[in-house]
Amino acid sequence: MKASSLSILVKILGQNKWFYLFSSALFILVIFLRTLEPKVFQWLTDELVNLGKSPQSIDKIVDRIPMMEFLLRNFNPFVSILVYFSVLYILITFTRSVVVFSAHTINAYSTENALSRLRNRLFSHLQGISMHHYVHHSKGEIIQRSTNDLEVVKNFIQNNIVEIIRISFMVIFSVSIMIRINLLVTLVSLCLMPFVVFLSFRFYKKEKKIWEKHESESDLLNNIIQENIQGIRTIKANAKEQMAINAFEHQNQRRLDAGIKHIELHCIYWPAMNFLVFLQIVISNLFGVYMTSLGYLTIGELLGVGIIVNMMLWPLRQVSSVLTNLSMAMVALQRIDELLTLPSEEDFDFNCKAPLKGEIEFRNVSFQYPGQKKFALKNVSFHINAGEKIAIIGPTGSGKSTIGKLLLRLYEPNEGTILIDNRDIRTYSKAYLRQHVGIALQNSIMFSATIKENLGAVNPSADNSMLYTAMEKASIAGLLEQSEKGLHKMIGEKGINLSGGQKQRLALSRLLLKKTDLFILDDVTSYIDEQNEQAILKSLKTHMADCTCIIISHKLSSILFAEKIIVLNQGLVQQVGNRDILVNTDGYYNIIYNLQTEGKVPLKEFI
Ligand SMILES: Nc1ncnc2c1ncn2[C@@H]1O[C@H](COP(=O)(O)OP(=O)(O)OP(=O)(O)O)[C@@H](O)[C@H]1O
Ligand SMILES: [Mg+2]
Repeated sequence: MKASSLSILVKILGQNKWFYLFSSALFILVIFLRTLEPKVFQWLTDELVNLGKSPQSIDKIVDRIPMMEFLLRNFNPFVSILVYFSVLYILITFTRSVVVFSAHTINAYSTENALSRLRNRLFSHLQGISMHHYVHHSKGEIIQRSTNDLEVVKNFIQNNIVEIIRISFMVIFSVSIMIRINLLVTLVSLCLMPFVVFLSFRFYKKEKKIWEKHESESDLLNNIIQENIQGIRTIKANAKEQMAINAFEHQNQRRLDAGIKHIELHCIYWPAMNFLVFLQIVISNLFGVYMTSLGYLTIGELLGVGIIVNMMLWPLRQVSSVLTNLSMAMVALQRIDELLTLPSEEDFDFNCKAPLKGEIEFRNVSFQYPGQKKFALKNVSFHINAGEKIAIIGPTGSGKSTIGKLLLRLYEPNEGTILIDNRDIRTYSKAYLRQHVGIALQNSIMFSATIKENLGAVNPSADNSMLYTAMEKASIAGLLEQSEKGLHKMIGEKGINLSGGQKQRLALSRLLLKKTDLFILDDVTSYIDEQNEQAILKSLKTHMADCTCIIISHKLSSILFAEKIIVLNQGLVQQVGNRDILVNTDGYYNIIYNLQTEGKVPLKEFI
């Protein structure tokens, strides 16, 4: 068992330690009461046999057994003894049932609470880890770990820790009762236990290994389901349903193979364990009979030993199910621990809270995504004055969006410095920066919530009229008329019930609600027709009149209000200048200008 998995388990239990201690004490009481039951039978048998042998022994019974006198003096002694012990037995079993119920309730309550806290902790930790971890851990895997694995841990704590306490104390109490009856009988009754322990240990190790494989196959299967549901449009559009089904069936088979190995292991272990327990009971009973025939045990003691051995050994068969669940829980805890130990985003101690005016400088910035060989940006330098509108253009993969990500400190440059308002960007905390830089990301996501909730997320104080104005500026207010629900219209997961252009315009309205003087628009009008695009750009120009604005795009029509253009190519700044200079200089801008304006009115006429 890995120390960190164990420490999570201890932490989970520690959060409700008093509840767990109390329920454990109740469980121990239950086991004590359970072991009293055979004792009652033993007493009953021995008293009846004694009375049969010498009916005059009533006085001795009165001395030995409390509260027996009234019954014995007034009723038939055999019936009295029978009634007395029956009532005692019923009282013990009734008390046991009440205590079992209370213990289970307290245990379940504590476990639900502890697991709910662990779930919260895991989710908030996932919010704080660096972006690149999401590249190494797929969505399916993260979902599996945050739901299924937590459920496995919960079931283990709720059901099996109790079982471990039950089995351990059952063995302790039973052995101590048996030792008081006869030491030799006890030793013989436990002679096969070393084999049981050895077999259980081997089983645990094998089970854990097989379950790890099973869970990693489940992650892959989950991923396929996740990706296929998300990409269902692409699959249907390309008639690739069969390919998706084949990929799923292939992975499902791999998961099944791992599951079958799991079952095969059980098929060997369970019968072996059953056989050992059965053999142990037979050996113990035969030896007990032999010892009784020699006079070392009374009939009552033989009966008591028989019941105790059964009571102690049959639950030992449950060890395999406890061990199965223990290995599953340990694998689950290890997988949860792997997520919990992913390092959170680092920040420096500076916490500058100066309002951002929007002057930006990149000084010899180079950046490589973690685990990538190629630099996404190489020695990039440029300067943007506060309030300036600038465009970044360049071929696909040239590093345009990366500049936006660095400005939000989603990643840190490997070399060089980024300055905002002449301050190193690292002097602003990440949270502050992200709250005060307005960015519409390329392919912005809408959440499965209402329009109001989606837009209001960036500015909770925005009222309906502010939401409406923002939507109007982004030419998407018409969407509200399509449904009676207006702002309360639900947006499907990832905006599935919206067109690409509608999603982009909603993302823009969300951006316009943010109170900031620094905007980054990453390819936000690529799906929008030119007429609408120009209307939107006009209102953006007014809205952002005094703000710094970085417009990233491939389309020259989207960057018309930019005063300066930076051309990136393969992570390098290739050209910087205004439209008039770049159009007359050989380079990327000139090429796309000629491609995109061929036979059309020069673009600059639009705004
Ligand atoms: N999360 C990531 N992990 C690893 N590499 C990445 C990641 N995001 C981008 N890259 C790589 O970094 C380079 C620059 O990507 P970037 O997204 O900045 O390009 P871009 O100019 O915005 O392209 P496009 O015009 O297609 O949006 C590309 O080679 C890309 O493959
Ligand atoms: Mg991009």
